[in-house]
Amino acid sequence: MALKFPVYPPSRYGGESEPVKRPKEFACFSYDKDHMFRLDDSSLKWYYPPDIGVDLSRGSDTFIKHDDSIDEHLDSLLKTIKAHEQQTGEPIDAHVVTWRGMLTKIMATPFDDEAFEMNATLYRDCIFIEEHHGFKEQKRQMENSRKGQRFPSSLMQYWGYKFETLSTLPRPWGETTREYIEGRDEEVVNNKEQYCSVVRTGFGKSIVCLGGEVDAIWDAKPGTPGDPINWVELKTSAEIRNHTDQFKFDRKLMRYWIQSFLLGVPKIIVGFRTQDGILSKVEELKTMSIPHEVQRRGLVKWDGNVCIKFTSLFLDWIRLNINDEGVWRIRRRQKSDHIELFKVEEVGHGNIITDEFMDWRIKL
Ligand code: A3P
Ligand code: MG
Ligand code: MG
Repeated sequence: MALKFPVYPPSRYGGESEPVKRPKEFACFSYDKDHMFRLDDSSLKWYYPPDIGVDLSRGSDTFIKHDDSIDEHLDSLLKTIKAHEQQTGEPIDAHVVTWRGMLTKIMATPFDDEAFEMNATLYRDCIFIEEHHGFKEQKRQMENSRKGQRFPSSLMQYWGYKFETLSTLPRPWGETTREYIEGRDEEVVNNKEQYCSVVRTGFGKSIVCLGGEVDAIWDAKPGTPGDPINWVELKTSAEIRNHTDQFKFDRKLMRYWIQSFLLGVPKIIVGFRTQDGILSKVEELKTMSIPHEVQRRGLVKWDGNVCIKFTSLFLDWIRLNINDEGVWRIRRRQKSDHIELFKVEEVGHGNIITDEFMDWRIKL
């Protein structure tokens, strides 16, 4: 029997807002150009404004694309947490460990129809949540076969990565040559390379450890660990030509805001493109101001405080109900008015937690 957590009406999650912690990075890792894991910040990129007028489709034939049909579970995040615990000699204090993408889906639920499935397991007082990879694959295949778009989804996805390559430098600008900056349009786009930040944050009574990709940094990491970092999130979006476009963009802004809020990314750089994928304008958005700006325009209704409160109460609920061994499924069907929780495996932890991590925790 599935337990149900109600989604609607969002107003039930209104009222007094929940205490939230500012996310603080306590560890990081990188994937190199071959997507090999590295316990360092070697894939960190610096933001440097791109040239306007560039064709985002350029080089799509040489795109080095990460094969995301392979299920990576929480492996890299657990490796990074283990290394951190080896340093400090104690387990992290999180009640929930997951990728940022999972909490993005949860937070968006009150104002979004999207279906999702996740797996969760309890291990030593902490709940580990991963994406249900098989479900994601199914969903993607359905989306890829969607008709009526002017360009294939794969090319439109390339635009996003191309924009990242056009807007970043592998070293601070003071250490970068003019030739490199001007030659960015010639660089091969490779999305296997990533920098991931691992943060401690909080929702209401729950302490959450999140890992997620950060696109770039504005200047430099602060000298004092835990101080806010000037991260930059890069996004591409179609030019806003009319009311309908603005409406669509304001809806999208909710995801932008949630995603950046979760890792404490203060600035979002949006590369606006023509319908044909030519970069036409770059705009800087302050993450913190997004909910207010969207409210001011009044075209779409979403409320950041409701997203936060919904998530706090949802986390309370799963911590109450995931209370013994096995693997649980967290599922929301499209447009459903509830999130379901039910057991899919009676014992063990599925593939959510690696043997390496369990062996380490037994020694700890
Ligand atoms: P855009 O967001 O500019 O379209 P992120 O913005 O999270 O850093 O992701 C970088 C790019 O990856 C996106 O660029 C998009 O091209 C692709 N991408 C991210 N999430 C996606 C998803 N759910 N479906 C398809 N493409 C996605
Ligand atoms: Mg990214
Ligand atoms: Mg981005």
